[in-house]
Parts: sequence; C-alpha cells; structure tokens
Amino acid sequence: MTQTDGIWKDIVAAERPTLIDLFKAEPDRLSNFVFEEAGLRFDFAKTHLTKPLIAKFAEILKAGGFDAARDALFSGAVVNPTEGRAAEHTAERGQGAPESVDRAKAYHARMRALIDAIEADAMGPIRHVLHIGIGGSALGPKLLVDALGRESDRYDVEIVSNVDGAALEQALKRFDPAATLIAIASKTFTTSETMLNARSALAWMAEGGVEDPYGQVIALTAAPEKAIEFGVDETRILPFAESVGGRYSLWSSIGFPAAIALGWDAFEELLEGAGAMDRHFRYAAPEENIPVLAAFIDYYYAIVRGAQTRAIFAYDERLALLPFYLQQLEMESNGKRVTVEGDPVPISAPITWGGVGTDAQHAVFQLLHQGTHLVPVEFIAAIEPGHVLDEGHHKALLTNCFAQGAALMAGKASDDPARSYPGDRPSSTILMDELTPARLGALIAFYEHRVFAGAKLIGINPFDQFGVELGKEIAKSIESGGATEFDPSTKALIERAFG
Ligand code: F6P
Repeated sequence: MTQTDGIWKDIVAAERPTLIDLFKAEPDRLSNFVFEEAGLRFDFAKTHLTKPLIAKFAEILKAGGFDAARDALFSGAVVNPTEGRAAEHTAERGQGAPESVDRAKAYHARMRALIDAIEADAMGPIRHVLHIGIGGSALGPKLLVDALGRESDRYDVEIVSNVDGAALEQALKRFDPAATLIAIASKTFTTSETMLNARSALAWMAEGGVEDPYGQVIALTAAPEKAIEFGVDETRILPFAESVGGRYSLWSSIGFPAAIALGWDAFEELLEGAGAMDRHFRYAAPEENIPVLAAFIDYYYAIVRGAQTRAIFAYDERLALLPFYLQQLEMESNGKRVTVEGDPVPISAPITWGGVGTDAQHAVFQLLHQGTHLVPVEFIAAIEPGHVLDEGHHKALLTNCFAQGAALMAGKASDDPARSYPGDRPSSTILMDELTPARLGALIAFYEHRVFAGAKLIGINPFDQFGVELGKEIAKSIESGGATEFDPSTKALIERAFG
C-alpha cells in the first residue's frame, strides 16, 4: 500500500455529517468555505468539505509532488510527458516563463495588427466572420462570442464545427461571400472535419463570385507550414505556440473571432482576468487555493461517495454554452483510466453535464432532488442582468438559483414517499457582480486549474488525448473502402449506407 492509499482510506473512513449538521457544528462555516478571487465569489459551504478533509487531500497532493508540478506548469517545463510537451496556456495571459510570455505577446500583437487591417478594410468590406474549427478550436471561441458578444454589432460571427454539411449550409445562408472572412482554426491544420468545411466554404465563395477566395482567408494555427501548403497567404496566418493545448487555446489566436467581435480591449480584459486567477492558483497554498479546493470536492464525491457525474447550471442565458465548453476541458483532460506510470486510477473525471436555469429546473431537476444518483451541482450567476427588461426577470432568475441550492441541501420530510425529498445534496455557487470579459476569463482559468489539480490528485496526465485517435483511424479506413475488415454489425451499416 502506498502512502497516498493510506490517506485515501482515512478520507473514505472519515465521519460523514450531513450538510445541515456541518452548518450547525461550524458557526464560521461561511468564512471557512466562501472565497473571493478575481471578482468571483465561490461558495463551497453547501458541500461536505471539512477542514480535516482538506488537510488529508492536501497531504495527497503533497505526496504526489504538487508544488513541483505546479511550478513546472508555470515555468514551461514538460508537464505532458506522453507527448514530451509543456502546457503554456498561462503564458498567453502573461503568467509563465519570460520567453514564452514574450512569444505569446508577439503573437497577440500580430493578431491585433491583422484585426486592425481587417477593420480598415484591407481584406475588402468584411462584415461576416466564418470561423471554421472543431473541439478546442471552436468551443472556446463559441462560448466567448455567445457570452460576451450579444450586444456587439461589430462583426457577424458564425462558428462552424460539425462535418455535417447542414451546419455549414445553415451558416452560409446568412452570409454574403464578398463580405465574408473565413478563419480556418486548427492547431494541427490536419483535422479532417475542419479541412473539409474549409474547402466547401472556399468553393461557396468562388461560386458566389469572389475572384480570389484565398484573399479572404486567414489561418489560426500552431502549424503555419501546413496552412501555407493549404494555400493561406503567410501574412494572414496567426500562429500560436505548439505548447498551447487545443482545449486550452482560446487565449491564443484561436480566440480571433472573440477578439474581432468584441474588440481588442475586451480580449485583453479576458486575458487579464484569467491572469488574476493564474496568480492565485500559482501562489496560494492548497488549503486556500480555490481551484484546488474545487478539485478536492470533485474527487471527494467521485471516489468517496460514488458520484459518476457533476452538473453545472448557469443561471445566465449568456453562459448557456459553458457546460459544452467544460465537457471538453474536463473530460478530454481527465477522462483517463491510467496514471502517468500506467497504473489504474480509481475513477476517471466525473462526467460533466448541465444546462441553464431556469430551463433545467423544468427538465432535469426532478432527478437531482429525488433520483437515486448523487450529482454534485454547481450554480453560476451574475448579480447584474444581461438585459434591460424589467428587473423582475433577473430577480426571479436569481431567486430560483438560490432556492435550488437550498432545497437540495434541506430536503423535506413527508409521510408520502413520492413527496419527500432526502436532502443533503451538495451544491457550490459561483457568483459575480457582472459578467464581464475579465470575470469570464477568471472563471475559465479557474476551471483549467481545477482540472490540473484534479489530475495531480489521482496522478494522471491531463494534457494528452489519445482516446480520440482510434475512432479517427477507423473512420479513415471506412472512408477508404476497406469494409471487409470490420465486425458484422459495422460492415452491415457501411453496406446499407454506401452500398
Ligand atoms: O480530436 C480531438 C482534438 O485533437 C482536440 O483535442 C482538439 O481540440 C480538436 O481535435 C481539434 O484539433 P485541431 O485544432 O488540431 O484541429
């Protein structure tokens, strides 16, 4: 048995007071479990986290060399051993090895200059931006534009990811080819869906009478040579560092649609907000480190209480895409079954799911309140509304948000089993005054660091994603017509669809 196995045993064996009992026993529970950082208020009081549990989890991190791993993350050392790479997304926010920060700044300056040129009509009278990318090359920009760009009338942005032509066709319907900029976003510039969509978009431009479609194309990539091969002019390539992972790349040139739709100042505020969270994560002791504490909560419920999932409900329409963004960040990073040494892990990252309040209350909350599954819930809300309608809307929204957390915890006894609520169900609440670029930057950085801390807790590498490769290989071989190599079910499907 290793040292950490012993600590995990202690955690599992620890007493399990109810949330109500925790509040009763700890008059200062709020001051112990509510934290403020970078304009965000994190309320972990309605979880089963206790000071002794925190101390145990911190011991596990310490035994696993957390301090050194965190230093390695910020110093640009290799933290992704299976691919022999650093993970330098924090350098994009000015927090990292000086040479990496300088490189990121130079790339940002290049992006800004290109945006200035586009605004000055150097690429023609551009009004629409068609961003083509998938996974990390789409989910982040999509979240940013949807969350912060609703009021913006600067550019009309569409982000197309799916290889299903229905997605691209729908986007193109609204656009005028002569006034459209195509931004091809791909870290590797090899992703088949993105390349196919890019080619179809270029064909649409040519058919729409644009004489030089490539003159209206830019590339956002860590593989500039591949973009040049594809036909993109070198001057219109916005590079970013190979050491910035795809699902951590919205801070780099992959964030181009957000920067152009929101304006450069807003993009910089986003980076600064993330930088503030970086500094907290980098220097705070694990016991007071908000992303680390959130990771403790995640793995407490996953390992000790058997929670298979965790749910995020933004009580803010502007954050409707947050659960989708977090699905990739959390599950592609920590959805692993072996440690860095190749040993089995007790459980992969909990499955991330969620929705928006109040819609979700009328759809999935039944199970949260009375189902047999334990689902730790996270609520996110802003005190200021994102609209100018009657204030009753926002009051109702926040009231509902707070009521759900209270109900999950308190429960309600009844003689009628169908009408009784067990209660003692955990939730966390992240509250901000206003949803601004800086707050959103800090929020996303919080999730990134929580993923890192969770990975260190169970000893995995959060920065590779080999799990996605096998399906890609098989798709390629189906496409190339080798149907005989497949199992009977797959073969029959192929034959039925393609003859
Ligand atoms: O297949 C998974 C993945 O590699 C993600 O990690 C990545 O965000 C996405 O594909 C897109 O990759 P790229 O930016 O290289 O096109």
